[in-house]
Amino acid sequence: AHPPCEPLSGQDVPSFAYTTFSRRLPAIVTKIVDDVYRTYHALDSQDQATSEKVKEAKKIIEMIAGLRYEMQRDKPFRPLTDNDPDVEEWNANLAKYYPTSSWFKASWLFAECYLYRRVREAFALSTHWRDYDPFFEQKQSVFKSSQKAVLAIATRLMAAVSSGDGEGTKRSALDILVQGGRTSAGTREAFLEMAEMCLWGNATDLSLLVEADTAKLEHLQKRMISGGISSSNGNNSSQQQSPTASPKEGEQKSSTIDKETLEEFGTSDKILSNDLDKLWDRLQHIEQGRVDIILDNAGFELYVDLVFADFLVRAGFASKVVFHCKSIPWFVSDVMQSDFHWTLEQLVKTGDDAFFKPEDSLEQQALQELGRRWQTYAAQGTWIVQENPFWTSCFAFWHLPTEPSAKALFDDMAKADLWVFKGDLNYRKLVYDCKWPTTTPFLEAIGPLASKEQGLNMPSLVTFRTCKADVVVGLAPGVAERVQAKSPDWMVNGEYAVISFSQGSRQ
Ligand code: F6P
Ligand code: MG
Repeated sequence: AHPPCEPLSGQDVPSFAYTTFSRRLPAIVTKIVDDVYRTYHALDSQDQATSEKVKEAKKIIEMIAGLRYEMQRDKPFRPLTDNDPDVEEWNANLAKYYPTSSWFKASWLFAECYLYRRVREAFALSTHWRDYDPFFEQKQSVFKSSQKAVLAIATRLMAAVSSGDGEGTKRSALDILVQGGRTSAGTREAFLEMAEMCLWGNATDLSLLVEADTAKLEHLQKRMISGGISSSNGNNSSQQQSPTASPKEGEQKSSTIDKETLEEFGTSDKILSNDLDKLWDRLQHIEQGRVDIILDNAGFELYVDLVFADFLVRAGFASKVVFHCKSIPWFVSDVMQSDFHWTLEQLVKTGDDAFFKPEDSLEQQALQELGRRWQTYAAQGTWIVQENPFWTSCFAFWHLPTEPSAKALFDDMAKADLWVFKGDLNYRKLVYDCKWPTTTPFLEAIGPLASKEQGLNMPSLVTFRTCKADVVVGLAPGVAERVQAKSPDWMVNGEYAVISFSQGSRQ
Protein backbone atom coordinates (compact mmCIF):
# COMPACT_ATOMS: atom_id res chain seq x y z
CA ALA A 1 0.00 0.00 0.00
CA HIS A 2 1.11 3.56 -0.60
CA PRO A 3 2.68 5.59 2.20
CA PRO A 4 1.02 8.77 3.52
CA CYS A 5 3.99 10.90 2.45
CA GLU A 6 7.01 10.57 0.20
CA PRO A 7 8.71 7.25 0.96
CA LEU A 8 12.44 6.67 1.25
CA SER A 9 13.70 5.06 -1.91
CA GLY A 10 16.83 3.54 -3.45
CA GLN A 11 16.77 6.15 -6.18
CA ASP A 12 17.79 8.87 -3.73
CA VAL A 13 21.53 9.34 -4.11
CA PRO A 14 23.24 9.62 -1.74
CA SER A 15 21.17 7.84 0.88
CA PHE A 16 21.45 4.73 3.00
CA ALA A 17 18.63 3.30 0.89
CA TYR A 18 20.85 3.61 -2.19
CA THR A 19 23.86 2.14 -0.36
CA THR A 20 21.66 -0.72 0.80
CA PHE A 21 20.60 -1.76 -2.70
CA SER A 22 23.92 -1.13 -4.38
CA ARG A 23 26.25 -2.60 -1.76
CA ARG A 24 24.78 -4.06 1.41
CA LEU A 25 22.08 -6.31 -0.02
CA PRO A 26 24.28 -7.77 -2.79
CA ALA A 27 26.80 -8.70 -0.06
CA ILE A 28 24.06 -10.25 2.10
CA VAL A 29 22.70 -12.24 -0.84
CA THR A 30 26.19 -13.47 -1.76
CA LYS A 31 26.58 -14.79 1.75
CA ILE A 32 23.41 -16.86 1.31
CA VAL A 33 24.90 -18.46 -1.81
CA ASP A 34 28.12 -19.21 0.10
CA ASP A 35 26.18 -20.73 2.97
CA VAL A 36 24.12 -23.07 0.79
CA TYR A 37 27.22 -24.05 -1.18
CA ARG A 38 29.17 -24.89 1.98
CA THR A 39 26.24 -26.79 3.44
CA TYR A 40 25.60 -29.02 0.48
CA HIS A 41 29.32 -29.71 0.04
CA ALA A 42 29.44 -30.97 3.58
CA LEU A 43 26.67 -33.50 2.93
CA ASP A 44 27.44 -37.18 3.15
CA SER A 45 27.64 -38.30 -0.47
CA GLN A 46 26.80 -41.92 0.51
CA ASP A 47 23.39 -40.84 1.65
CA GLN A 48 20.54 -41.72 -0.74
CA ALA A 49 18.67 -38.48 -0.23
CA THR A 50 21.80 -36.45 -0.89
CA SER A 51 21.73 -36.29 -4.66
CA GLU A 52 18.21 -34.89 -4.67
CA LYS A 53 19.20 -32.40 -1.97
CA VAL A 54 22.28 -31.30 -3.89
CA LYS A 55 20.23 -30.82 -7.01
CA GLU A 56 17.84 -28.61 -5.09
CA ALA A 57 20.70 -26.67 -3.54
CA LYS A 58 22.09 -25.89 -6.97
CA LYS A 59 18.68 -24.66 -8.04
CA ILE A 60 18.43 -22.45 -4.95
CA ILE A 61 21.86 -20.97 -5.69
CA GLU A 62 20.82 -20.27 -9.26
CA MET A 63 17.67 -18.52 -8.08
CA ILE A 64 19.49 -16.42 -5.49
CA ALA A 65 22.17 -15.44 -7.99
CA GLY A 66 19.40 -14.46 -10.41
CA LEU A 67 17.81 -12.37 -7.70
CA ARG A 68 21.08 -10.51 -7.12
CA TYR A 69 21.35 -9.83 -10.84
CA GLU A 70 17.76 -8.51 -11.04
CA MET A 71 18.35 -6.21 -8.11
CA GLN A 72 21.68 -4.85 -9.30
CA ARG A 73 20.29 -4.16 -12.79
CA ASP A 74 17.13 -2.65 -11.32
CA LYS A 75 14.86 -5.07 -13.20
CA PRO A 76 11.08 -4.87 -12.66
CA PHE A 77 9.59 -6.86 -9.78
CA ARG A 78 7.98 -10.14 -10.74
CA PRO A 79 5.21 -12.07 -8.95
CA LEU A 80 6.12 -14.78 -6.45
CA THR A 81 5.80 -18.38 -7.61
CA ASP A 82 5.86 -20.55 -4.49
CA ASN A 83 2.94 -21.91 -2.49
CA ASP A 84 3.33 -20.27 0.91
CA PRO A 85 0.00 -18.92 2.18
CA ASP A 86 1.00 -15.26 1.78
CA VAL A 87 1.76 -15.46 -1.95
CA GLU A 88 -1.60 -14.13 -3.08
CA GLU A 89 -1.38 -11.13 -0.81
CA TRP A 90 2.12 -10.27 -2.04
CA ASN A 91 1.18 -10.67 -5.67
CA ALA A 92 -2.01 -8.64 -5.30
CA ASN A 93 -0.03 -5.77 -3.76
CA LEU A 94 2.67 -6.01 -6.41
CA ALA A 95 0.05 -5.80 -9.14
CA LYS A 96 -1.85 -2.98 -7.49
CA TYR A 97 0.90 -0.67 -6.31
CA TYR A 98 4.10 -1.65 -8.11
CA PRO A 99 3.04 -2.99 -11.54
CA THR A 100 5.95 -1.36 -13.37
CA SER A 101 8.23 -0.61 -10.47
CA SER A 102 11.67 -1.95 -9.63
CA TRP A 103 14.21 -2.23 -6.85
CA PHE A 104 15.68 1.25 -6.84
CA LYS A 105 12.48 3.04 -7.89
CA ALA A 106 9.98 1.54 -5.46
CA SER A 107 9.78 2.47 -1.80
CA TRP A 108 12.80 1.18 0.09
CA LEU A 109 10.62 -0.56 2.66
CA PHE A 110 8.62 -2.49 0.09
CA ALA A 111 11.60 -3.44 -2.06
CA GLU A 112 13.72 -4.63 0.86
CA CYS A 113 10.91 -6.75 2.30
CA TYR A 114 10.28 -8.14 -1.18
CA LEU A 115 13.93 -9.16 -1.40
CA TYR A 116 13.75 -11.30 1.74
CA ARG A 117 10.46 -12.75 0.53
CA ARG A 118 12.13 -13.68 -2.76
CA VAL A 119 14.90 -15.41 -0.83
CA ARG A 120 12.17 -17.34 0.94
CA GLU A 121 10.68 -18.30 -2.42
CA ALA A 122 13.89 -20.03 -3.47
CA PHE A 123 13.84 -22.25 -0.37
CA ALA A 124 10.05 -22.70 -0.28
CA LEU A 125 10.10 -24.22 -3.77
CA SER A 126 12.33 -27.06 -2.59
CA THR A 127 11.47 -30.18 -0.61
CA HIS A 128 14.67 -30.65 1.35
CA TRP A 129 15.48 -27.00 2.11
CA ARG A 130 12.03 -25.69 2.97
CA ASP A 131 12.86 -25.16 6.63
CA TYR A 132 16.48 -24.25 6.13
CA ASP A 133 17.62 -20.94 7.60
CA PRO A 134 20.54 -19.61 5.54
CA PHE A 135 21.33 -17.07 8.28
CA PHE A 136 21.43 -19.49 11.21
CA GLU A 137 25.17 -20.06 11.06
CA GLN A 138 25.84 -16.29 11.19
CA LYS A 139 23.34 -15.76 14.00
CA GLN A 140 24.87 -18.39 16.21
CA SER A 141 28.48 -17.50 15.58
CA VAL A 142 27.91 -13.84 16.47
CA PHE A 143 26.02 -14.91 19.58
CA LYS A 144 29.02 -16.99 20.57
CA SER A 145 31.24 -13.94 20.20
CA SER A 146 28.99 -12.18 22.71
CA GLN A 147 30.04 -14.51 25.53
CA LYS A 148 31.71 -11.86 27.69
CA ALA A 149 28.71 -9.55 27.80
CA VAL A 150 26.22 -12.41 28.13
CA LEU A 151 28.03 -13.71 31.21
CA ALA A 152 28.51 -10.28 32.76
CA ILE A 153 24.79 -9.61 32.51
CA ALA A 154 23.79 -13.05 33.83
CA THR A 155 26.05 -12.50 36.82
CA ARG A 156 24.49 -9.12 37.52
CA LEU A 157 21.03 -10.64 37.39
CA MET A 158 21.67 -13.87 39.26
CA ALA A 159 24.83 -13.96 41.38
CA ALA A 160 24.16 -13.46 45.07
CA VAL A 161 25.82 -10.45 46.59
CA SER A 162 25.59 -8.96 50.05
CA SER A 163 22.29 -7.11 50.29
CA GLY A 164 23.67 -4.58 52.79
CA ASP A 165 20.82 -5.16 55.24
CA GLY A 166 23.21 -5.69 58.14
CA GLU A 167 22.03 -9.29 58.52
CA GLY A 168 24.33 -10.81 55.96
CA THR A 169 21.50 -11.66 53.54
CA LYS A 170 22.59 -12.34 50.00
CA ARG A 171 20.52 -11.72 46.89
CA SER A 172 21.19 -10.88 43.29
CA ALA A 173 21.90 -7.25 42.41
CA LEU A 174 18.68 -7.04 40.40
CA ASP A 175 16.54 -8.56 43.14
CA ILE A 176 17.95 -6.08 45.61
CA LEU A 177 17.01 -3.21 43.34
CA VAL A 178 13.43 -4.36 42.74
CA GLN A 179 12.69 -5.54 46.27
CA GLY A 180 10.82 -2.31 47.08
CA GLY A 181 8.10 -3.13 44.55
CA ARG A 182 6.82 -1.59 41.34
CA THR A 183 6.88 2.01 42.42
CA SER A 184 10.16 2.10 44.32
CA ALA A 185 13.22 4.15 43.45
CA GLY A 186 15.26 0.96 43.19
CA THR A 187 12.85 -0.53 40.67
CA ARG A 188 13.03 2.67 38.67
CA GLU A 189 16.80 2.47 38.69
CA ALA A 190 16.68 -1.12 37.48
CA PHE A 191 14.11 -0.15 34.84
CA LEU A 192 16.39 2.51 33.38
CA GLU A 193 19.30 0.12 33.30
CA MET A 194 17.36 -2.77 31.74
CA ALA A 195 15.60 -0.55 29.22
CA GLU A 196 18.84 0.99 27.98
CA MET A 197 20.42 -2.43 27.74
CA CYS A 198 17.46 -3.58 25.70
CA LEU A 199 17.81 -0.52 23.47
CA TRP A 200 21.53 -0.80 22.76
CA GLY A 201 21.28 -4.52 22.10
CA ASN A 202 19.84 -3.44 18.78
CA ALA A 203 23.15 -1.88 17.78
CA THR A 204 24.60 -5.34 17.23
CA ASP A 205 22.41 -6.69 14.41
CA LEU A 206 23.98 -8.71 11.65
CA SER A 207 22.73 -6.86 8.63
CA LEU A 208 24.85 -3.89 9.67
CA LEU A 209 27.78 -5.87 11.00
CA VAL A 210 28.22 -7.78 7.77
CA GLU A 211 31.89 -8.22 8.61
CA ALA A 212 31.46 -8.45 12.35
CA ASP A 213 34.59 -9.27 14.27
CA THR A 214 34.68 -10.24 17.88
CA ALA A 215 36.64 -7.17 18.96
CA LYS A 216 34.14 -4.76 17.45
CA LEU A 217 31.26 -6.66 18.95
CA GLU A 218 32.80 -6.77 22.40
CA HIS A 219 33.48 -3.05 22.18
CA LEU A 220 29.85 -2.34 21.31
CA GLN A 221 28.56 -4.56 24.07
CA LYS A 222 30.89 -3.11 26.64
CA ARG A 223 29.59 0.30 25.71
CA MET A 224 26.08 -1.00 26.12
CA ILE A 225 26.54 -2.38 29.58
CA SER A 226 28.23 0.90 30.52
CA GLY A 227 25.22 2.73 29.16
CA GLY A 228 22.90 0.96 31.53
CA ILE A 229 24.96 1.75 34.54
CA SER A 230 25.67 5.35 33.55
CA SER A 231 21.97 5.98 33.07
CA SER A 232 21.13 4.91 36.55
CA ASN A 233 23.70 7.38 37.84
CA GLY A 234 22.97 10.34 35.67
CA ASN A 235 19.68 10.18 33.86
CA ASN A 236 17.30 9.88 36.73
CA SER A 237 14.98 12.81 36.31
CA SER A 238 12.89 12.03 39.38
CA GLN A 239 15.96 12.73 41.54
CA GLN A 240 15.12 9.72 43.66
CA GLN A 241 17.93 8.15 45.60
CA SER A 242 18.94 4.54 45.22
CA PRO A 243 17.87 2.44 48.15
CA THR A 244 20.60 1.96 50.73
CA ALA A 245 20.32 -1.76 50.00
CA SER A 246 21.97 -1.19 46.63
CA PRO A 247 24.92 -3.53 46.22
CA LYS A 248 28.27 -1.91 46.83
CA GLU A 249 30.51 -1.18 43.91
CA GLY A 250 32.93 -3.90 43.04
CA GLU A 251 30.59 -6.60 44.24
CA GLN A 252 29.13 -7.24 40.82
CA LYS A 253 31.15 -8.15 37.81
CA SER A 254 29.14 -5.98 35.46
CA SER A 255 29.92 -2.84 37.38
CA THR A 256 33.64 -3.13 36.71
CA ILE A 257 33.41 -0.81 33.73
CA ASP A 258 36.46 1.29 33.04
CA LYS A 259 36.00 5.02 33.18
CA GLU A 260 37.37 5.53 29.70
CA THR A 261 34.60 3.48 28.15
CA LEU A 262 32.00 5.37 30.10
CA GLU A 263 33.37 8.69 28.89
CA GLU A 264 33.72 7.59 25.30
CA PHE A 265 30.19 6.29 25.15
CA GLY A 266 28.11 8.33 27.55
CA THR A 267 25.21 6.57 25.89
CA SER A 268 22.38 8.53 27.45
CA ASP A 269 23.23 11.63 25.43
CA LYS A 270 23.13 9.48 22.30
CA ILE A 271 19.42 8.89 22.84
CA LEU A 272 18.24 11.85 20.81
CA SER A 273 14.65 11.66 21.99
CA ASN A 274 14.06 9.74 25.18
CA ASP A 275 10.57 8.88 26.43
CA LEU A 276 11.69 6.52 29.19
CA ASP A 277 10.09 8.80 31.79
CA LYS A 278 6.74 8.52 30.00
CA LEU A 279 7.15 4.76 29.77
CA TRP A 280 7.92 4.59 33.48
CA ASP A 281 4.81 6.66 34.27
CA ARG A 282 2.71 4.30 32.16
CA LEU A 283 4.22 1.25 33.88
CA GLN A 284 3.13 2.66 37.21
CA HIS A 285 -0.43 1.88 36.09
CA ILE A 286 0.33 -1.66 34.94
CA GLU A 287 0.30 -4.41 37.54
CA GLN A 288 0.56 -8.08 36.53
CA GLY A 289 -0.39 -6.97 33.01
CA ARG A 290 0.37 -8.19 29.52
CA VAL A 291 3.29 -6.82 27.53
CA ASP A 292 3.86 -7.74 23.89
CA ILE A 293 7.40 -7.48 22.54
CA ILE A 294 7.73 -7.32 18.79
CA LEU A 295 11.20 -8.78 18.52
CA ASP A 296 13.96 -7.82 16.16
CA ASN A 297 17.26 -9.70 16.12
CA ALA A 298 18.36 -13.07 17.45
CA GLY A 299 21.57 -13.54 19.43
CA PHE A 300 22.70 -10.87 21.82
CA GLU A 301 19.75 -8.57 21.15
CA LEU A 302 17.26 -11.32 21.92
CA TYR A 303 19.19 -12.11 25.09
CA VAL A 304 18.87 -8.54 26.38
CA ASP A 305 15.21 -8.44 25.32
CA LEU A 306 14.69 -11.47 27.53
CA VAL A 307 16.53 -9.69 30.32
CA PHE A 308 14.09 -6.80 29.98
CA ALA A 309 11.10 -9.14 29.88
CA ASP A 310 12.44 -10.94 32.96
CA PHE A 311 12.67 -7.60 34.75
CA LEU A 312 9.04 -6.76 33.86
CA VAL A 313 7.92 -10.07 35.36
CA ARG A 314 10.08 -9.95 38.49
CA ALA A 315 9.19 -6.37 39.29
CA GLY A 316 5.46 -7.17 39.03
CA PHE A 317 4.57 -5.18 35.91
CA ALA A 318 3.76 -8.20 33.76
CA SER A 319 2.36 -11.63 34.44
CA LYS A 320 2.39 -12.38 30.74
CA VAL A 321 4.88 -11.40 28.05
CA VAL A 322 4.09 -12.30 24.44
CA PHE A 323 7.05 -12.41 22.06
CA HIS A 324 6.33 -11.90 18.37
CA CYS A 325 8.74 -13.65 16.00
CA LYS A 326 9.17 -13.84 12.23
CA SER A 327 7.90 -16.96 10.50
CA ILE A 328 10.62 -16.97 7.81
CA PRO A 329 14.31 -15.96 7.74
CA TRP A 330 14.18 -12.16 7.65
CA PHE A 331 16.64 -9.25 7.43
CA VAL A 332 19.48 -11.66 8.27
CA SER A 333 19.31 -11.76 12.02
CA ASP A 334 15.61 -11.48 12.93
CA VAL A 335 14.27 -13.91 15.52
CA MET A 336 12.23 -16.91 14.43
CA GLN A 337 10.53 -19.17 16.95
CA SER A 338 13.26 -21.73 16.39
CA ASP A 339 15.91 -19.14 17.33
CA PHE A 340 14.01 -18.31 20.49
CA HIS A 341 13.88 -21.90 21.75
CA TRP A 342 17.42 -22.61 20.57
CA THR A 343 18.69 -19.64 22.59
CA LEU A 344 17.07 -20.81 25.82
CA GLU A 345 18.54 -24.28 25.29
CA GLN A 346 22.07 -22.93 24.87
CA LEU A 347 21.95 -21.07 28.16
CA VAL A 348 21.38 -24.19 30.23
CA LYS A 349 23.82 -26.53 28.50
CA THR A 350 26.92 -27.54 30.43
CA GLY A 351 30.08 -29.60 30.01
CA ASP A 352 31.36 -30.54 26.56
CA ASP A 353 27.99 -29.72 25.12
CA ALA A 354 27.98 -26.15 26.39
CA PHE A 355 27.56 -23.34 23.90
CA PHE A 356 29.26 -20.76 26.10
CA LYS A 357 32.43 -21.83 27.90
CA PRO A 358 32.89 -19.61 30.93
CA GLU A 359 36.09 -20.09 32.87
CA ASP A 360 34.47 -18.90 36.03
CA SER A 361 32.08 -21.39 37.65
CA LEU A 362 30.00 -18.62 39.24
CA GLU A 363 29.34 -17.17 35.81
CA GLN A 364 28.45 -20.59 34.52
CA GLN A 365 26.01 -21.13 37.35
CA ALA A 366 24.45 -17.69 36.95
CA LEU A 367 23.83 -18.26 33.26
CA GLN A 368 22.39 -21.70 33.78
CA GLU A 369 20.02 -20.55 36.51
CA LEU A 370 18.89 -17.67 34.36
CA GLY A 371 18.25 -20.03 31.44
CA ARG A 372 16.29 -22.37 33.69
CA ARG A 373 14.15 -19.54 34.98
CA TRP A 374 13.36 -18.46 31.45
CA GLN A 375 12.53 -22.00 30.41
CA THR A 376 10.11 -22.17 33.33
CA TYR A 377 8.45 -18.93 32.22
CA ALA A 378 8.02 -20.43 28.76
CA ALA A 379 6.73 -23.76 30.10
CA GLN A 380 4.24 -22.10 32.43
CA GLY A 381 2.88 -19.64 29.88
CA THR A 382 4.29 -16.56 31.60
CA TRP A 383 6.20 -16.14 28.37
CA ILE A 384 4.45 -16.92 25.12
CA VAL A 385 6.27 -17.20 21.82
CA GLN A 386 4.31 -16.53 18.63
CA GLU A 387 4.75 -15.95 14.94
CA ASN A 388 2.47 -14.33 12.41
CA PRO A 389 2.87 -13.74 8.66
CA PHE A 390 1.95 -10.09 9.13
CA TRP A 391 5.46 -9.37 10.42
CA THR A 392 6.95 -10.48 7.10
CA SER A 393 4.24 -9.05 4.88
CA CYS A 394 4.62 -5.99 2.67
CA PHE A 395 2.59 -3.88 5.08
CA ALA A 396 3.75 -1.04 7.27
CA PHE A 397 2.28 -1.05 10.78
CA TRP A 398 -0.17 1.71 9.88
CA HIS A 399 -2.16 -1.23 8.46
CA LEU A 400 -2.06 -3.38 11.59
CA PRO A 401 -5.45 -2.20 12.94
CA THR A 402 -7.29 -2.39 9.62
CA GLU A 403 -5.70 -4.97 7.31
CA PRO A 404 -8.06 -7.98 7.12
CA SER A 405 -5.21 -10.52 7.18
CA ALA A 406 -3.94 -8.96 10.43
CA LYS A 407 -7.32 -8.88 12.18
CA ALA A 408 -6.84 -11.90 14.44
CA LEU A 409 -3.36 -10.69 15.36
CA PHE A 410 -4.55 -7.16 16.12
CA ASP A 411 -7.54 -8.33 18.15
CA ASP A 412 -5.27 -10.48 20.27
CA MET A 413 -2.58 -7.82 20.64
CA ALA A 414 -5.22 -5.27 21.68
CA LYS A 415 -5.52 -7.24 24.94
CA ALA A 416 -2.03 -6.12 25.90
CA ASP A 417 -1.28 -3.14 28.12
CA LEU A 418 1.89 -2.25 26.26
CA TRP A 419 3.60 -3.04 22.97
CA VAL A 420 7.37 -2.84 22.79
CA PHE A 421 8.76 -2.56 19.26
CA LYS A 422 12.40 -3.45 18.92
CA GLY A 423 14.85 -2.23 16.35
CA ASP A 424 15.23 -0.32 13.18
CA LEU A 425 12.97 -2.14 10.77
CA ASN A 426 10.06 -2.15 13.22
CA TYR A 427 10.59 1.60 13.65
CA ARG A 428 10.60 2.13 9.90
CA LYS A 429 7.32 0.22 9.67
CA LEU A 430 5.80 2.25 12.52
CA VAL A 431 6.55 5.57 10.80
CA TYR A 432 5.85 4.16 7.33
CA ASP A 433 9.46 4.79 6.23
CA CYS A 434 8.64 8.29 5.02
CA LYS A 435 10.79 11.33 4.54
CA TRP A 436 9.41 12.99 7.66
CA PRO A 437 11.10 16.14 8.90
CA THR A 438 12.98 15.13 12.05
CA THR A 439 10.77 17.42 14.19
CA THR A 440 7.57 15.59 13.14
CA PRO A 441 5.81 14.49 16.35
CA PHE A 442 6.11 10.72 16.84
CA LEU A 443 2.35 10.48 17.36
CA GLU A 444 1.77 12.00 13.92
CA ALA A 445 4.28 9.69 12.25
CA ILE A 446 2.65 6.51 13.59
CA GLY A 447 -0.76 7.57 12.25
CA PRO A 448 -3.61 5.27 13.30
CA LEU A 449 -1.49 3.51 15.94
CA ALA A 450 -1.72 6.62 18.10
CA SER A 451 -5.17 7.86 17.30
CA LYS A 452 -8.13 7.71 19.61
CA GLU A 453 -10.45 9.34 17.09
CA GLN A 454 -10.85 6.17 15.09
CA GLY A 455 -12.32 4.50 18.12
CA LEU A 456 -9.56 1.91 18.13
CA ASN A 457 -8.75 0.20 21.36
CA MET A 458 -5.07 1.02 21.12
CA PRO A 459 -2.57 -0.12 23.75
CA SER A 460 0.34 2.07 24.76
CA LEU A 461 3.41 1.47 22.69
CA VAL A 462 7.11 2.19 22.87
CA THR A 463 9.88 1.80 20.35
CA PHE A 464 13.50 1.06 21.27
CA ARG A 465 15.45 1.86 18.16
CA THR A 466 19.07 2.52 17.28
CA CYS A 467 19.18 4.63 14.12
CA LYS A 468 20.12 2.70 10.97
CA ALA A 469 17.96 4.27 8.27
CA ASP A 470 17.39 7.75 6.86
CA VAL A 471 14.29 8.44 8.95
CA VAL A 472 14.08 9.83 12.47
CA VAL A 473 11.14 11.69 14.00
CA GLY A 474 10.26 13.24 17.33
CA LEU A 475 13.38 15.38 17.71
CA ALA A 476 13.37 18.81 19.32
CA PRO A 477 14.24 21.69 16.96
CA GLY A 478 18.00 22.00 16.48
CA VAL A 479 18.88 18.46 17.62
CA ALA A 480 19.33 17.05 14.10
CA GLU A 481 21.56 19.98 13.10
CA ARG A 482 23.68 19.65 16.23
CA VAL A 483 24.27 15.93 15.82
CA GLN A 484 24.76 16.26 12.05
CA ALA A 485 27.65 18.66 12.66
CA LYS A 486 29.25 16.15 15.02
CA SER A 487 28.57 12.94 13.11
CA PRO A 488 27.42 13.22 9.48
CA ASP A 489 26.30 9.53 9.44
CA TRP A 490 24.28 9.83 12.62
CA MET A 491 21.04 8.60 11.05
CA VAL A 492 22.47 5.28 9.91
CA ASN A 493 25.59 4.33 11.86
CA GLY A 494 23.77 2.73 14.80
CA GLU A 495 25.46 5.02 17.33
CA TYR A 496 22.41 7.13 18.04
CA ALA A 497 19.00 6.05 19.20
CA VAL A 498 15.45 7.10 19.95
CA ILE A 499 12.97 5.81 22.51
CA SER A 500 9.50 7.03 21.56
CA PHE A 501 6.27 6.41 23.42
CA SER A 502 2.56 6.62 22.62
CA GLN A 503 -0.06 6.40 25.34
CA GLY A 504 -2.66 4.95 22.97
CA SER A 505 -6.15 4.95 24.37
CA ARG A 506 -5.08 3.55 27.75
CA GLN A 507 -5.07 5.36 31.08
O1 F6P B 1 18.94 -2.99 5.42
C1 F6P B 1 18.26 -1.95 5.92
C2 F6P B 1 17.75 -2.12 7.28
O2 F6P B 1 16.37 -2.10 7.41
C3 F6P B 1 18.34 -1.02 8.06
O3 F6P B 1 17.46 -0.01 8.25
C4 F6P B 1 18.94 -1.71 9.24
O4 F6P B 1 20.28 -1.52 9.10
C5 F6P B 1 18.72 -3.18 9.06
O5 F6P B 1 18.17 -3.35 7.82
C6 F6P B 1 17.84 -3.82 10.04
O6 F6P B 1 18.04 -3.38 11.31
P1 F6P B 1 17.22 -3.96 12.51
O7 F6P B 1 17.70 -5.35 12.70
O8 F6P B 1 17.56 -3.07 13.65
O9 F6P B 1 15.78 -3.89 12.16
MG1 MG C 1 16.65 -7.08 12.31
